[in-house]
Amino acid sequence: MSVKNIYPKRGIKGEVTVPGDKSISHRSVMLGSIALGTTEITNFLQGADCLSTIGCFRKMGIEIEQKDGTVLVHGQGLRGLSAPEGTLDVGNSGTTTRLMSGILAGQDFVSVMSGDASLNSRPMGRVMTPLNRMGARIGSVLDNGCAPLRIEPGVLHGIRYQSPVASAQVKSAILLAGLYADSGTSVTEPALSRNHTELMLGAFGADVTSEVHEDGSATAGVMPCKQLYGQKIQVPGDISSAAYFIAAGLLVPGAEILIRNVGTNPTRAGILKVCEAMGADITYLNPRNMWDEDRTGTGNCRMGQEYFGGLHCGGGEPTADILVRYSMLHGTTIGGSLIPALIDEIPMIAVMAACAEGTTVIKDAAELKVKETNRIDTVTENLRAMGAQVTPTDDGMVIEGGTGLSGAHIRSCLDHRIAMAFSIAGLAAKGETVIEDSQCVDVSYPGFFAALDSLMDV
Ligand code: S3P
Repeated sequence: MSVKNIYPKRGIKGEVTVPGDKSISHRSVMLGSIALGTTEITNFLQGADCLSTIGCFRKMGIEIEQKDGTVLVHGQGLRGLSAPEGTLDVGNSGTTTRLMSGILAGQDFVSVMSGDASLNSRPMGRVMTPLNRMGARIGSVLDNGCAPLRIEPGVLHGIRYQSPVASAQVKSAILLAGLYADSGTSVTEPALSRNHTELMLGAFGADVTSEVHEDGSATAGVMPCKQLYGQKIQVPGDISSAAYFIAAGLLVPGAEILIRNVGTNPTRAGILKVCEAMGADITYLNPRNMWDEDRTGTGNCRMGQEYFGGLHCGGGEPTADILVRYSMLHGTTIGGSLIPALIDEIPMIAVMAACAEGTTVIKDAAELKVKETNRIDTVTENLRAMGAQVTPTDDGMVIEGGTGLSGAHIRSCLDHRIAMAFSIAGLAAKGETVIEDSQCVDVSYPGFFAALDSLMDV
């Protein structure tokens, strides 16, 4: 068991460049593998989850070169994967499992995916149900709705699926299977979840559409595809990793932190809205777009252009540098369609709420229960250990801020986001904080503690 000791800080100043976005890194390897030609990915996240995705596609015959931060994927086309020998190891990665189930559903070979104990206890019915309705033949080996999953060849038909959850993993699995179907496929979700798959599919040459309806629900569609074509992908910094340094800047008295090259796609940037609502001092510098306006020359990047408009537009992913200064935060209410845009940041937001004046209510976030841990439980347990007042609810939590945090032993339960959120809590707490199983940060942010220490040394 690795532990990390964290001590209170004041006046931390400096610059951080966070690693590449996890969601975009996964997708670039997946689409690169089923596209024709080479996909060159720069600033790829070398975290354990994304390495699981690389490992799986290598096992299916795709040559993938890794050189520093650049990855070259030598794609073999939509039908160019080959039958893997043995089980595909998805590690701790829900994104690998769920998105790949959509791709595997369209193959003419049998495959089995399995991961670690956490992964193998997470619900997979949410992708098996729609994919099997399309004609896929995916079964839970232990018949418990979880991985290991066994995927047999099937003939896929397009569907119109009404998803009960706003989940980019579910949406993406269906859209990826839709590439292999015999007619158009669409997914409607109760609120717009991250749209990296739609943006990237468009850039690789697929015919993708997206629409946000008046009631906040959203529909994404894809047409059957003959071929995708390899692209150059520059992965923006991960806003979910930047979140820890945004919070450090806001919570540590006298702090001033510049975080460079952060992806600010609105479907991911809910934490920035919350910070604003809590009274944070944040300045956005150098806003730009990572990709060209129309990378394929096919005009197929239209969804990004329709939805984002203005400053952040184009077919690709918007980014900015973010300057954060220590702020007196106050409580807020977070719920509704904002939740999918900040779902992974809720542990960090909960810590910020505990340090803010007044009450923060987090609602409509029952999805927290099916992440790497049940994050309603793991956040509540650890915030309470630090002396905060938290009441868990069925779909979130209520936090009474302003009581101050005390250092504590934090049980990360091997959940990377719990380990990192409570490391930041430790900077703003009184006394020593000990993060148990701290190595789990490698899942999404290898080098997190080195980056934190570099600020602390200032
Ligand atoms: C992800 C989507 C989210 C998020 C996960 C990554 C993705 O899950 O929590 O860390 O890359 O599509 P859901 O879409 O299931 O909410």
